[in-house]
Amino acid sequence: MPLVPMSEALAGRRAVCAFNAVQLEVAEGIVAGAEAARTPVVLQLSENAVRFHGALAPIGEAFLALARSSSAPVVVHLDHATEESLVDEAIALGFASVMYDGAHHEYADNAARTAAVVRRGHAAGVWVEAELGRIGGKEGAHTPGVRTDPAEAAQFAGETGVDALAVAVGSEHAMRERTASLDLGLIARIAASTGLPLVLHGSSGVADAAIVDAIAAGMRKINIGTHVGRVFTDAVRGALADESLIDPRRFITPGRAAVAAEVERMLRTLTPA
Ligand code: G3H
Ligand code: ZN
Repeated sequence: MPLVPMSEALAGRRAVCAFNAVQLEVAEGIVAGAEAARTPVVLQLSENAVRFHGALAPIGEAFLALARSSSAPVVVHLDHATEESLVDEAIALGFASVMYDGAHHEYADNAARTAAVVRRGHAAGVWVEAELGRIGGKEGAHTPGVRTDPAEAAQFAGETGVDALAVAVGSEHAMRERTASLDLGLIARIAASTGLPLVLHGSSGVADAAIVDAIAAGMRKINIGTHVGRVFTDAVRGALADESLIDPRRFITPGRAAVAAEVERMLRTLTPA
């Protein structure tokens, strides 16, 4: 049961967790965690991670191959793409899901660009996520209080035909503590006004119990990035305390194992089989 579309990952369940990986070994940990939990997972590669590698194809092909060989259902997703050309490249490569992030554009521009991406995505059978209402914390932006308006979200859904919507409901990207306070009433109102699966970004800053409440209120995809990086790096840092260590496998192995264990724990807690 390898590479699957988002509709299949979500079938029969309330939500799916989506973990960001910058490099292959973290992706291997994420997939191993999903296999252990016997639960579908979304493996996300962001535009920022693509920039880090300098190109989509080498790392994207590796993620796709990893998903194909997994015993767990895995959706390979392009995350936070602001460049339409990168979305097209991911679709051509075989990604089942893409996020076009036009939230930095004015509403009308964002809607027009998103609608065009949706048309091309749907022609290829690809699930398209978009964002409305800036989710704070990216590149140092601090935008407390930004919220998605339910009526505007409904209009955006109708104008674009998007499959899922990332909304601003109290979380921020790159939080180091899991202390965000979500507006559960707003989540429910946006879910009702749009009829769309909603996506919680910045979930590293949200406690497990609050994520469970957000899923009950209407969140269907839970994006977790910073937390995965922290788990990997903490384990690597611990291994590197041995200054005689030279072989990179000696510190990457505990990092990958720590990611697998935490992903399994989160999947069992947040999206149980
Ligand atoms: O799109 C990715 C997520 O929103 C990750 O956010 O790094 O704060 O968990 P996070
Ligand atoms: Zn995000």
